[in-house]
Amino acid sequence: NEKELINGKPYYYHQGFWIAEFLFRSTISAQRNFVAHEDDIILASCPKSGTTWLKALVFSIVNRTRFAPTDSPLLKVNPHDLVPFLESPSRIFEKIVFDQPRLFSTHMPHQLLSLSIKTSDSKIVYISRNPMDQFISYWFYTCKFPNDPNAEPVDLEDFFDKFCRGIHNSGPFWDHVLGYWKASLERPHKILFLKYEELKKDIGFNIKRLAKFLGFPFSEEEERRGVVEEISTLCSFEKMKNFDVNKNGHWTLGISNSLFFRKGEVGDWKNFLTPSMVERMEKLLQEKFGEHNLTFELPD
Ligand code: A3P
Repeated sequence: NEKELINGKPYYYHQGFWIAEFLFRSTISAQRNFVAHEDDIILASCPKSGTTWLKALVFSIVNRTRFAPTDSPLLKVNPHDLVPFLESPSRIFEKIVFDQPRLFSTHMPHQLLSLSIKTSDSKIVYISRNPMDQFISYWFYTCKFPNDPNAEPVDLEDFFDKFCRGIHNSGPFWDHVLGYWKASLERPHKILFLKYEELKKDIGFNIKRLAKFLGFPFSEEEERRGVVEEISTLCSFEKMKNFDVNKNGHWTLGISNSLFFRKGEVGDWKNFLTPSMVERMEKLLQEKFGEHNLTFELPD
């Protein structure tokens, strides 16, 4: 397989996508072997698009009769330990005793999902994010990962150039996004396509939309009791960032939990990208997404 180094670490090209070496075998295994159940829920995303938030939201929605907000496992367990990755090298999901439905997540592109996922009635929720913010989030994350205080800073220009050539974890982002976008248009009852910016704008509406899509709609009585607001508050950036489990000192997937919570805003790219980088990215977005009628909010 073709190989590239990103921040000194090897990535391999597999059927159109770049995969980190440490995820390579487990990704191929998930692609070939994962058997979905009819009521499984799979949360998919390109890295740094809002995966952690989506996990917290969906976990809270489907388990809301099981746990009161004051008793939520989210207070003590990082969402990544509640909703495991299909392609996790430790195959952690084989060790979890799930309540129903089973909740999984993946950074795998739709193109690489197992046939069983694609042909079963399991549901997929995809979260996308404007690629400029996704990029900045990814850059910060890579600079800190794996929390080594002596790590060399990652060169922004070089990292950006690779990102725009599709060389990043699960990249190219445009093929990742378009795979799920097209599949969601073909099978709207199976795949729900969300945008991070839409969730930021109206989280209440999107929690109800998610619940309905997943087959767990809120009753009028629940809405009157403010259950939607409770979930939105519990999963808000400010709250989640400050749960004890998400402070320094707690680790998940070999990463300090605090790394999953940086700023949680829309438009932070403006503080870091140069005008020529913005121009290059805008061209790229037009070229890749223009004909598909897919736009991302890029506030100026
Ligand atoms: P920033 O780096 O821009 O702050 P992922 O979960 O896919 O790794 O994405 C991480 C991004 O989502 C980070 O973006 C992180 O701060 C943001 N995020 C994490 N939890 C969030 C929440 N509860 N609400 C909104 N954004 C959140």
